[in-house]
Amino acid sequence: MIGGFLSCTAPPKKTAQINKATFGNTQDGAAVDQYTLINQSGMEVKILTYGGIITNLFIPDATGKKTDVVLGFDELKLYESSSPYFGALIGRYGNRIAGGKFNLEGEEYTLVQNNGTNHLHGGTRGFDKVIWEASAHIENEEAFLELRYLSQDQEEGYPGNLAVEVTYVLTQNNSLEVRYKAQTDKTTVLNLTQHTYFNLSGDEDILNHELKLNASSYLPVDETLIPLGTLAEVANTPFDFTTLKRIGSDIDEENLQLKQGLGYDHCWVLNNQNTGVRTAAVLKHPRSGIQMEVLTDLPGIQFYSGNFLDGTLPRKGTDSFYAYRSGLCLETQFFPNAPNEPSFPSPVLKPGEVFQSTTVFQF
Ligand code: GLA
Repeated sequence: MIGGFLSCTAPPKKTAQINKATFGNTQDGAAVDQYTLINQSGMEVKILTYGGIITNLFIPDATGKKTDVVLGFDELKLYESSSPYFGALIGRYGNRIAGGKFNLEGEEYTLVQNNGTNHLHGGTRGFDKVIWEASAHIENEEAFLELRYLSQDQEEGYPGNLAVEVTYVLTQNNSLEVRYKAQTDKTTVLNLTQHTYFNLSGDEDILNHELKLNASSYLPVDETLIPLGTLAEVANTPFDFTTLKRIGSDIDEENLQLKQGLGYDHCWVLNNQNTGVRTAAVLKHPRSGIQMEVLTDLPGIQFYSGNFLDGTLPRKGTDSFYAYRSGLCLETQFFPNAPNEPSFPSPVLKPGEVFQSTTVFQF
């Protein structure tokens, strides 16, 4: 235990706790740890040094029962071989880059094409598949886990050595903050996000969840899920989540965009750009009574309704499998393919600049 022994200076009841345990070894023999951050309000989160993966997130439901609200595996080898980015940190560029190519300061860069002809979520060995250097501490009764990774120049095709720092903070008021920081020695593109699959019900699929997105427009996509480059109003479409709406209510409507996404798999353009951290989404499950708010300073949020979950991935702690649409992602981010769309907010990071961004999951 890392936290408890600070109790000589702080009242033990209000002090968060941090535990560290071995989780396993990767296929090539590297040791992976799992940190557990616990607050005094009943929330607990478990995070791996591999991919910065959130494996478990426990929250008390309306009756006080601890519910794990994220999808994950029991074994490291499943995270290595079969994970659809369960719980992971994503980089260097989250979401898709068309054709795996972009131009920057007059040079063309070619990335790995790992999603048809497109580049997805940083490539074949993105930030979700590397080991992060970790250190943990308690500050003002809150638990901090700092993860650091140095992404080499040309790694997965990206320019510049990029030093990335992601800090998870579990606060006493049941929020999990994700603080991103990065610096490069050569101009590069950057889109860091967190790919946790949430399910606030504990057991059923996500269709009875209610969702609100503070976005009056979204980015329509082509058949390979690359944005067309234009914004579309959500009003009078199945993409309107401006007030709390059951996710299942319009998901099967006849609609070209829903067809291309196989459901929802789109980036919403958040209202109030450049105003700092503001509410992006509210997710609620009426029966469990669990509610989550997502706050961010980033321009967009990808809402993915778990359309590729097909009943083949083993469900942690059980002998069963994750069913179709049994988890959903709310990935705060720059827009997909922004390196090729000059009209989108710029995801470019230059030497000498410090990229900093915060996303909060508030329960
Ligand atoms: C993202 C993408 C989806 C899918 C999932 C992982 O959310 O937008 O299309 O690739 O990741 O399965």
